[in-house]
Amino acid sequence: MSTESAQLPKSVTSERVIDVRHWTDRLFSFRITRPASFRFRSGEFVMLGLMNGEKPLLRAYSIASPAWDDALDFFSIKVPEGPLTGRLQSIQANDNLLLGRKPTGTLVLDALRPGKNLYLLSTGTGIAPFASIIRDPDTYANFERVIVTHTCREIAELAYGQKLVDDVKEDPLVGEEATAQLEYFGSVTREDYVNMGRITHLIENGHFFKTVGTEPFDPERDRVMICGSMGMIRDVRALVENAGFIEGANSKPGDFVVEKSFVD
Ligand code: A2P
Repeated sequence: MSTESAQLPKSVTSERVIDVRHWTDRLFSFRITRPASFRFRSGEFVMLGLMNGEKPLLRAYSIASPAWDDALDFFSIKVPEGPLTGRLQSIQANDNLLLGRKPTGTLVLDALRPGKNLYLLSTGTGIAPFASIIRDPDTYANFERVIVTHTCREIAELAYGQKLVDDVKEDPLVGEEATAQLEYFGSVTREDYVNMGRITHLIENGHFFKTVGTEPFDPERDRVMICGSMGMIRDVRALVENAGFIEGANSKPGDFVVEKSFVD
């Protein structure tokens, strides 16, 4: 698969795929080269895609690697008939992909006021920006405890997030901080598992706070980042707003921030 074309738009660069890993029949991750001039803040997203004839076919993807890393990681669903993921799921090492030049996004530490606990709440591919944030030393400097949650339909879909958290604890840069400050909470909705149910349900019935050993959400102490489907964002947003949390932005830091994960 090639992105080489005389028509390559100015807004993108052509990058080489370094590695591809398939986690389940619905999820895969890949690593691509990072241009020397490409700067981003941990948690941001960027346009990514392929040439489709003469035109680029691009979608927003959260960057799953930290800002200091040499290469860029991404996490994607596979939609058999999806215009982009239908083709993207068959990429292999040494193929080329298009990468936008201007990353952006709201799931950044700068958009949150100082606090004690940082909750990173995700479903499905929504864990991708948190893969970046939990490898950023600033996260551990700014917060005492960092709790990342991941809810998927099936147990196998939790594997990427679990490996990520295990690896962060061995990381030379943030391993010590992560071991002391980072907690992982996974739940599954369509199979038997130790934590069963949507995160909204487990927050409301207290199971989540009891399991991680914290108190219910309090805007004086807690900050929340939310990334998942439209429905998940709507429902988690309602929960934190009912608890008195104010939404933050780059220009005006607040108590919580949200972002929709890529769907195609
Ligand atoms: P469920 O299985 O009950 O739909 P998806 O793969 O469809 O994006 O879903 C990923 C996970 O997000 C699933 O476990 C799903 O649960 C859960 N989910 C879907 N909608 C919501 C919602 N509105 N609030 C919380 N979790 C949700």
